[in-house]
Amino acid sequence: MSKHIPIAVVGSGYVGLVAAVCFAEMGHDVICVDNDERKVAALRGGDTLIHENHLPELLERYRNTKVRFTTDLAEATRECQAIFIAVGTPQSETGDADLSYVEAVTCEIARSIDTYKVIVEKSTVPVYTNEWISRALERNGVARHLFDVVSNPEFLREGTAVCDFLHPDRIVVGADSERAAAVLNAIYAPLTSGEYYERTSGIPGVCSVSQPPPFLLTSTKSAEIIKHASNAFLALKISFINAVSNLCEATNANVEQVARGMGLDSRIGPRFLRPGIGYGGSCFPKDVAAFRSVAEQLGIDFSLLTEVEKINVQQKRRFLSKVRSALWTLRGKRLGVLGLAFKGETDDIRESPAIELVRMFLGEGCSITAFDPAAIQRTEEILPAGPNLKYVDDAYAAAADADALLILTDWSEFAALDLQRLNQALRYPIIIDGRNMYDPAVMTENGFTYLSVGRPTAH
Ligand code: UGA
Repeated sequence: MSKHIPIAVVGSGYVGLVAAVCFAEMGHDVICVDNDERKVAALRGGDTLIHENHLPELLERYRNTKVRFTTDLAEATRECQAIFIAVGTPQSETGDADLSYVEAVTCEIARSIDTYKVIVEKSTVPVYTNEWISRALERNGVARHLFDVVSNPEFLREGTAVCDFLHPDRIVVGADSERAAAVLNAIYAPLTSGEYYERTSGIPGVCSVSQPPPFLLTSTKSAEIIKHASNAFLALKISFINAVSNLCEATNANVEQVARGMGLDSRIGPRFLRPGIGYGGSCFPKDVAAFRSVAEQLGIDFSLLTEVEKINVQQKRRFLSKVRSALWTLRGKRLGVLGLAFKGETDDIRESPAIELVRMFLGEGCSITAFDPAAIQRTEEILPAGPNLKYVDDAYAAAADADALLILTDWSEFAALDLQRLNQALRYPIIIDGRNMYDPAVMTENGFTYLSVGRPTAH
């Protein structure tokens, strides 16, 4: 039987909340701290506040028992052995990560440390942050023998966060002290020993089978760099395939065949080679900028990352041009839009390429009718409905009487639409698909003019 460790998780956003309920699922007792009283009250009442598969079930199973929610960081610090910092590290104006929340939490933790604690960086932070946290703790009067700071980056994706957390490819722990490494080893033992996978049948239908993940112990700085380098590399992979998709369009080749041919090389791998309208979300844009900025500050030329960003911006403009080329002119055109979230299965709209495109089309004088299965409410807060922008309740209402339908987010339900109904709803049967959700031949058979990314149009 694994040892159960009392864990505090500070921050109840995507990473913090998912970590908190998943640690409970692994057998630990968790206190989840947030300084937003309304959030804490909602979580205590069973409202996850975010749309994330399997999170409601786990919250229901553990809330107010194995996971307690509180605003009292001092008490959580005193009661727990490991304190995971999972607060936001947004992008500042210069491109750096803004670490003011991490600093504020560190100073507050410092006031309550009376026995040995392991402070764990779970938020994405630049290299050297562990040293800053140590310095801040000491400056605030904590004796050096009373704490260690370790880095334990999180690699979960929104939409599949619970599965990713419980079935990770690897667990990375950067620790410069054996004592701290042992605490993290014990925390993850239910996964690394396979014990969790033996005692649970997993989450039905989704992630039931798993090999125990490797536990990779590194220096603290290496772990910090692993997180930034991984996200930057994935963003690079996406920009690379987007550039290749443009080449395929110019030559009438098929990017899906190209990606498959590349991905079968085990050195390249098949994943994250889906072209589209550019990457978005709260991580890749911010982390690529932050990693570039870290390199700059260290005097290292990493302009490759600037190119990754440039391609990402161009990909949206290219999509806009594609729509223009299908409709001749844009002013006064009525567009149906499917998808506002930055990707499917989430209500997160941060840095969503779909919303950026909606703004660009509005700027071109189009009027838009948009549908998203989960992200309308959040979108309305930043982009209220108006004379040229309407939000509707289903995909067919978005298509109704539109000059063209645009697919901007890869929600799985957008891959299973009733094509005849869609065809009848549209004023002209034109679909421009930024996520390659359909087979071009099937769309042609169903009477559509169908344009996608990097694939020849079927005739
Ligand atoms: C990303 C990483 O994948 C996670 O490993 C990491 O933990 C997380 O950032 C983070 O740092 O917190 P996430 O942003 O939730 O996860 O979502 P992804 O699935 O990576 O998608 C990011 C963007 O890339 C989306 O806009 C998506 O549509 C786009 N994408 C992804 C593509 O355009 N093509 C692909 O092949 C894959």
